[in-house]
Parts: sequence; C-alpha cells; structure tokens
Amino acid sequence: MSRYLVTGCAGFIGSTLVDALLADGCEVVGIDGFTDYYPRDRKDAAIAAARSDPAFELIEHDLGEAPPPPAALEGVAGIFHLAARPGVRASWGAGFEPYLHDNALATHLVAESAADRGLRLVFASSSSVYGDALAHPTSEDAPPAPVSPYGVTKLTCEHLLGAHSRNFGLDYVALRYFTVYGPRQRPDMAFARIIEALVAGSPFEVYGDGRQSRDFTFVQDAVAATIAAMHKGASAATYNVGGGSEATLRESVAILEELSDRTLDVRYTKEAAGDVRRTLADTRRIRGELGWEPAVELRAGLASMLEATGAIVPAGRDNG
Ligand code: UGA
Repeated sequence: MSRYLVTGCAGFIGSTLVDALLADGCEVVGIDGFTDYYPRDRKDAAIAAARSDPAFELIEHDLGEAPPPPAALEGVAGIFHLAARPGVRASWGAGFEPYLHDNALATHLVAESAADRGLRLVFASSSSVYGDALAHPTSEDAPPAPVSPYGVTKLTCEHLLGAHSRNFGLDYVALRYFTVYGPRQRPDMAFARIIEALVAGSPFEVYGDGRQSRDFTFVQDAVAATIAAMHKGASAATYNVGGGSEATLRESVAILEELSDRTLDVRYTKEAAGDVRRTLADTRRIRGELGWEPAVELRAGLASMLEATGAIVPAGRDNG
C-alpha cells in the first residue's frame, strides 16, 4: 500500500485529492496550516470524511515556519505539495506578505525535505504564471509574465523547484492548474460566489464587463492529472492542466441560471487588479505524456457543483 504526503490537505483541491487517494487504497498523511484565507469550518468539513478513515493522518503545521516534521515523511512514496495562499486579487498591498510565507518560503522548505529524502514532489502551480498570454491556447513554453503578486509567487515556486533540482537532484513535476471549480470550491472564487448568491437571492458582483474567459477545469479532472503526474510525469517537467471548457463569466452565469432555474442579481463593478482577460491551455503535452484528458465539461461540472450545495436541484436531475 503506497503512502503519500499531501500538503494543503484541507483545501479545495487538496481535500479532493486526499479522498481520491484513500479511495485508491493509499495511506495519506496530510499537512494543513489552516491559514486565515477563508474560514476553518469549511476546511474541517472538507476533511471530515477522510478523518474517519484510519488510513488518513492529519498534522496541523505551518510549512512557511518549518519543514514537514519527520513523522510526515516517514515511509511516504511522494509528496503532493498543494499548500498555498491562493487567490489572485488579495495578493496586493499588505496582503502580499502571507503569499511570500505560504508560497515561496513553504515551497523552499518542502523542496529541501523532498530532495534530502529523494522523494518526488508534485507541485500545484497556476495558469496565473502566464499573465496576459500572447497566444491562446498557451503552451508550457510560452514566456511566463504574471500580472498579479500571487502569480509572481507561483512562478517563484517553480523557479525554486528548478534550482533545487539542478543543485540537489530534486525530482519534481509542476502542474499549472487552470481555474479549478467543483464541489468544495473556495468561497472567494466566482462560481462558489454565484451559487451562494443564487441560493440566498443576494447580489453577485462581476469585476469588469463579464467578458473575461477562463479554461475552467473540473476538480476531479485536476485531481486525476495530479495523480498521473506523480506516476508518469517527466522529472522537472511542467504541464498545463486545462479543462478544455473555455467560457466567459457571462456564459457561465447563464448556464448556472438555467441549471438552477433562478435569475442572478448581477451588479457590474470595476475590473480587479491582477485579473487576466483570457486563459486557455494548450494540453498537448499532458495528453501525450501522461495520457490525461479532461472528462467533465462545464455544464456537467456546474450541475454537480449545484447539486453538492444540497439547496438547488439542477435542471435535468431527478430528485425523486
Ligand atoms: C483562480 C484561482 O483563484 C487561483 O488560485 C488560481 O491560481 C487561478 O484560478 C489559476 O487558474 O491560475 P481566477 O481565474 O481569478 O483564479 O478564478 P475565479 O476566482 O473563479 O474568477 C474567475 C473570474 O471571475 C475572474 O475574472 C474574476 O475577476 C471574476 N470574479 C470572481 C468576479 O467577477 N466576481 C467575483 O466575486 C469573483
């Protein structure tokens, strides 16, 4: 039975990865710092099922302060490093310091531990490293030019891993996730907020004209790519993880309105600093090398997200 370390195990993607690994029969040791980026009760809820499984062990630990404790590394076959301060828009101003701590410092310490023990590390990077890309779809070889401090820290982490690889033989794979959504999505993200507003009948603020688009990626697809990277990724390689469901925010709102049979109270406000206009992944590398491809298109993914709220039965789903 393989044992893995998952950092950020109580987060949106981390907790979904933990559940998938446990379902595959793996043992999982999870580290989470329970930072204040969003309320802890959501994170506790996200790992509640895992915590009732004897194959899961939780260690509460701040990875920006100190490397993973030895107990977390004992007997593990690899590290999934998903712990991070996420979110593009909160990384300006005084908000920047925790991004350095939770992203750059933490990744440096985790990379050291992984290299010392000869463990493969799969790192959760972000499409935000591209900034406003010059070409779409965007390939991994496109020049990165992040337009948010958050994106700068994710690119810094990629470079740190490269430095640890060249100097100390770190075996790592970097995954650039493209706007991941699905059940347990972080409460600051667009779809989580739209659904919350649809349930409560409260307003949803669109930053800008709503014509910005994203290559939305369903969380189970992102998790499948993450596990495939651990097993089959080339060392020191970078892969785009894009769901192949490009949509504008307006189009996404329309799908959610139709599925929920409700009308969203949309308020337009000014564009958010650090936001990019468009993302679209070139996924030829990950398809070719890892045999991964997204399985869930946007409409189906949004329907499962709505269903998971328990408050709305999406159109086309039988509630009987
Ligand atoms: C998301 C994640 O938050 C990042 O952690 C991740 O690294 C990034 O994807 C990525 O793929 O690189 P983002 O694309 O901004 O960032 O995802 P959402 O928060 O879902 O926002 C999507 C769009 O909706 C953005 O243009 C945003 O400005 C807009 N939005 C979001 C609103 O108009 N109103 C809101 O209340 C929230």
